[in-house]
Amino acid sequence: MNSSTKNQSPRILMFPWLGYGHITPYLELAKKLTTKDFFIYLCSTEATLSSIRTKIPPNLSNSIELVPLPLEVSPDDLPEKYHTTNGLPPHLMVKLKEAFDNSKQNFSSLLQKHKPNLLIFDFLQPWAPPLAEALNIPSVIFITSSSVMTSFMFHHFSDPGAEFPSENIRFRHYESCFMDELLANARDCEEREKGSAGVNMSREIVLIKGSREIEGRYIEYVSGLTGKRFVPVGPLVQEPDDQKSSSELLSWLDQKEAKSTVYVSFGSEYFLSKEDMDGIAHGLLQSKANFIWVVRFPETEVVLEEKLPEGFLDKVGERGKIVQGWAPQTRILVHPNVGGFVSHCGWNSVMESFKYGVPIVAVPMHLDQPINARLVEEVGAGEEVLRDGDGRLNAETVAAVINRVVVEDGVRAKVDEIKARLALMGDGEIDEVARELMSICSKSLIN
Ligand code: UDX
Repeated sequence: MNSSTKNQSPRILMFPWLGYGHITPYLELAKKLTTKDFFIYLCSTEATLSSIRTKIPPNLSNSIELVPLPLEVSPDDLPEKYHTTNGLPPHLMVKLKEAFDNSKQNFSSLLQKHKPNLLIFDFLQPWAPPLAEALNIPSVIFITSSSVMTSFMFHHFSDPGAEFPSENIRFRHYESCFMDELLANARDCEEREKGSAGVNMSREIVLIKGSREIEGRYIEYVSGLTGKRFVPVGPLVQEPDDQKSSSELLSWLDQKEAKSTVYVSFGSEYFLSKEDMDGIAHGLLQSKANFIWVVRFPETEVVLEEKLPEGFLDKVGERGKIVQGWAPQTRILVHPNVGGFVSHCGWNSVMESFKYGVPIVAVPMHLDQPINARLVEEVGAGEEVLRDGDGRLNAETVAAVINRVVVEDGVRAKVDEIKARLALMGDGEIDEVARELMSICSKSLIN
């Protein structure tokens, strides 16, 4: 494997949004691009960079340089530890977005200092490409969401009355508030303009996380809708990392039977409502699977027993483990004793399940998750837990779907097939990405 160097290779500055779900695919793409002779600057706030600092392998430390972006905000308004969406109390999200947008000048100074040949930017910062263009640096957007969600949004922007290519892909009636939120937000203001502006400003192509093996028809559809060529970068799943601190949890998992345990997690940002906590807790108790459940709360000091149904921990005994805050997800998903993943269907979690061959019990919460959950069912990699008419999670339904997917191994054949197809594809999609980026870099060097 070749390693790139700052002086001899084309230099790309990558600039993700400040979420763990964004910086990790950016880092995985960075790692792949260093093997194709690019040198990478990865720019973000210190709080966001700190979550990936240890994930850069020593042999790539000369090919990837982390570049901290200071935010223009006083520590009283937004303490530095909250310069990331990971663990951010929800009411501070607006402040974080505002502080980020106010830091354009700092970002421009970093571009001037490092003089990359190309900028790869995220959709929430369409202000970045004009700053780069002013310095003669071309820009390409890298979208970390699914093509199904991206095409669904562009479809509704351009022609909501027309039929979407798949009738499975829609919001359910109890999710109409999410649809309204996305489209109303997006219809007259910023969020929509941000998304389309980023795509419009992207030079020649749009990079998107995912694979033609899974989302071919949606990649084609969104390319047609936007008039831009969408180029998938592949699953970009993190390798399972060494988590010595979780050795007790992994030893517990070692003792269970093959595929007998379900992993339950709702991503790096979401906090479950009390009703959903109860629905999941009772559903797990009623199911026949063992489980590892990652629970997260916005408060720093929490008495776990008070957040869970009364007597829950006693009833669980050795059948389940509750992990507070963070678990080594990929390490758990590759474990042979894990037979399913109760997931909110954040796009990274979905791709990790596909890549590692873990059936999904889909419990989407908001944002793109309902649409990703529909895709999971459409490709046959899992089953969704349908909510009651008013949107409540029903414990019996949670248990029944876990039993079908995990205990009875209902979707195993399809999941194995998807895993095999992705493995066969290997880094094929990255080769194409590297050729495209090299061509854009060389054209801008000539001009
Ligand atoms: C956010 C949005 O919520 C989601 O809808 C969108 O698709 C991506 O951005 P997030 O909720 O964090 O993402 O979910 P997800 O995309 O699944 O990413 C979470 C990442 O954190 C995964 O790579 C997962 O492996 C990792 N993780 C999460 C852990 O390693 N341990 C944890 O305990 C929780």
